[in-house]
Amino acid sequence: MSSKLFTPLQIGPIEVPNRIAISPMCMYSADDGSASDFHIQHLCRFGMSGAGLAVMEATGVTRDGRISPGCLGLYSDENEKALARAVAAARKYDMPGFKLGIQLCHAGRKASTPYPWDRGAALTPEKGAWQTVAPSAIPFGNDIPAPRELSDADIREIVAAFASAAKRAVNAGFDLLEIHAAHGYLIHQFHSPLTNKRTDDWGGTQEKRLRFPLAVAEAVRAATPSHIALGARINSTDFVDDGLSPDDAVQLAAELKARGVDYVCVSSGNIVPGGRPALGPGFNVERAARVKRETGIVTRTVGYIAGPKHAEEIVASGAVDQVALARAFLDDSNWGWHAAEVLGAPLLPPPQYQRVKAGAWPAAKESRAIV
Ligand SMILES: Cc1cc2nc3c(=O)[nH]c(=O)nc-3n(C[C@H](O)[C@H](O)[C@H](O)COP(=O)(O)O)c2cc1C
Repeated sequence: MSSKLFTPLQIGPIEVPNRIAISPMCMYSADDGSASDFHIQHLCRFGMSGAGLAVMEATGVTRDGRISPGCLGLYSDENEKALARAVAAARKYDMPGFKLGIQLCHAGRKASTPYPWDRGAALTPEKGAWQTVAPSAIPFGNDIPAPRELSDADIREIVAAFASAAKRAVNAGFDLLEIHAAHGYLIHQFHSPLTNKRTDDWGGTQEKRLRFPLAVAEAVRAATPSHIALGARINSTDFVDDGLSPDDAVQLAAELKARGVDYVCVSSGNIVPGGRPALGPGFNVERAARVKRETGIVTRTVGYIAGPKHAEEIVASGAVDQVALARAFLDDSNWGWHAAEVLGAPLLPPPQYQRVKAGAWPAAKESRAIV
């Protein structure tokens, strides 16, 4: 059986060896933004996973742009050095052709959140809470402190911080940068009419709401050398009336492409609390396919991709170029090897692990029941 999922894909200047990406996932294990030993072992697992690409978690371009006190940042020399150490470790034994990316983010009004394992307990100043910022002073939810409205000067500083973080990410050794313009974080807050009620040049009309996302894209592109791939995660719908729609996603993707962005990853939701319908397998695929069809940009999608055969179907249909999986790789960091086995693709585990194929492999496979 020939597998499309296991064919290479060109993303701007880089080639990934297959179309499986590990989706960015916050790990809440950084120290003042700096990657810890946790990140080293986490990245090393992903480098050997069989995925062609892993994109590291939402990384704050400023200290107050981090989602939680444990999130990665790229705002200091220490942050850059710590990430470079983790990248170098992962590169040492990664699989042939494996590429590593990082997601650059400012969380805006959704910053200063508690660790998920402390859920329920608010992040207090004693535990490191800080004043959040946003396009408009509208809190994310009832019990959440209101953000401070950004001034024009603040906005320009954040654009510059994205560019500076991009340079640091390149110095740290990443192959690909992903601007986080989805999931209700700052860039999305500027884009969505639900969260941007400004009356200056950064809000109001659709064109003005796009100004910040596109200013960030331009600044990051200018700061990123041409051998590094640049993409953005975007929302294909806010799932609520008066929020962003699939038409907005097509427009944003086209504008990003015109500014030299190489790919988009199409996701959805999270601009307001709740508001998501029940979501089934591949819930973003159709809207992502429309983005690809109408803009021609390299397109990835994400969201409840239900196993190797489903991933293969999505890619082989031509709907999108690449799929990303998040929780599946937390559950099974060798998901790529197992998908190759299911799809009959010639991908071998690293040499140190290949004896599993000669002996325990069928039993291991059955016990996981992943087919
Ligand atoms: C623990 C965890 C952390 C996440 N952190 C991020 C993140 O940093 N950036 C992001 O864009 N999405 C993040 N997500 C969302 C995932 O990237 C993905 O879009 C979502 O989980 C749906 O994919 P899945 O069904 O394969 O898990 C996170 C998801 C999980 C489970």
